[in-house]
Amino acid sequence: MKRLLVVLMGVALILGLFSAAWAADEVRIGVYLPMTGPVAAFGQMSWNGLQVAHEMHPTVLGKQVKLFLVDNKGDKVEGANAVERLIKYNKVCAIIGAVCSSVSLAGGPVAEKYHIPMVSSASTNPLVTQGKKYVFRVCFIDPFQGKIAAKFAYNDLKARKAAIVMDVQQDYCVGLAKFFEESFKKLGGKIVAKVMYRTGDQDFTAQVTAVKAKKPDVIYIPGYYPEIALFSKQARELGVKSYILSGDGAYAPELIKIGGKAVEGIYFTNHYDEGGVSTKLGKEFVKAYHKKFHKNTDSLGALAADAYFVLIHAIKKAKSTDPEKIRDALESIKSFAGVTGVFKFDKNHNAIKAAVIQTVKNGKFVYVTTVSP
Ligand code: PHE
Repeated sequence: MKRLLVVLMGVALILGLFSAAWAADEVRIGVYLPMTGPVAAFGQMSWNGLQVAHEMHPTVLGKQVKLFLVDNKGDKVEGANAVERLIKYNKVCAIIGAVCSSVSLAGGPVAEKYHIPMVSSASTNPLVTQGKKYVFRVCFIDPFQGKIAAKFAYNDLKARKAAIVMDVQQDYCVGLAKFFEESFKKLGGKIVAKVMYRTGDQDFTAQVTAVKAKKPDVIYIPGYYPEIALFSKQARELGVKSYILSGDGAYAPELIKIGGKAVEGIYFTNHYDEGGVSTKLGKEFVKAYHKKFHKNTDSLGALAADAYFVLIHAIKKAKSTDPEKIRDALESIKSFAGVTGVFKFDKNHNAIKAAVIQTVKNGKFVYVTTVSP
């Protein structure tokens, strides 16, 4: 019995040493994305982009990079658990994610607790990084996004009366609605109606009726694609002619699949347009992506790729996979020529960069204009 125990302990020791050596031989990066659930299209687009970025740059410091993906289902509790699991179980040195701001707001504090750098690819709510030492993002933030939407509504669409339709369950939507309202009022516009819904709602009759009665020039709905598509459908069916304007959360092919004709002419702010790719890295990414997936790139894939590339850049700069050193290296980046353009981090670790406005025309996403910060 005793001998067996000694043998078992020996085996365990060897296995332990072996896996430690194994771990030291690879660079482990955690990823948490909504692969299932209401916004699964966001997760899939991001993961596609990440895979391409990883294939383009599979090693750093002479070691293989290994990505560990956990599905956060677009849910806060799942998000926090995902980050905990990636750190404690997969022993990652850095994390990429999440997409939805509410999920990054839940995952960020866990990364903070364990001192592991986290780079969100697409979460735009300002609170995601605010006051955090280890959380960064490669996208712009919603005060900027709300402002350019308001300017576009007022100056380009000549809207003076706006209605706001918002998902009260999402930090992203509540925040973006507020930033739009502030900017639109400052320009001289009026908010004539404000109605609420919740993620997963299917029937928008009450909201459409309330909005229609106020005859707005524009309806601002800074939500996610499933509800934007359904709302637009029901609004058009009930004869609403106002412009519909939205934020980056509108962006998924599913918007058009679900919304059909009703989303024709909808405008929304976004992060990236393939036609505008200007950097060397961006051009290489587009080429590699086309080759792998035989379709055009999208903003979420491009942003996720940027989160990966900026992390690899930081690891190189740090000459180490020590999370503290990666964090310091990220903070010291002066300018980065990513897929989505050239950007830098402000003092709150937010990327300062341009935005684009897109629309839906003949069942396709079409570029309208670029707005610089
Ligand atoms: N900005 C959104 C959020 O913070 C996420 C998103 C980004 C969705 C880009 C689609 C495209 O929740």
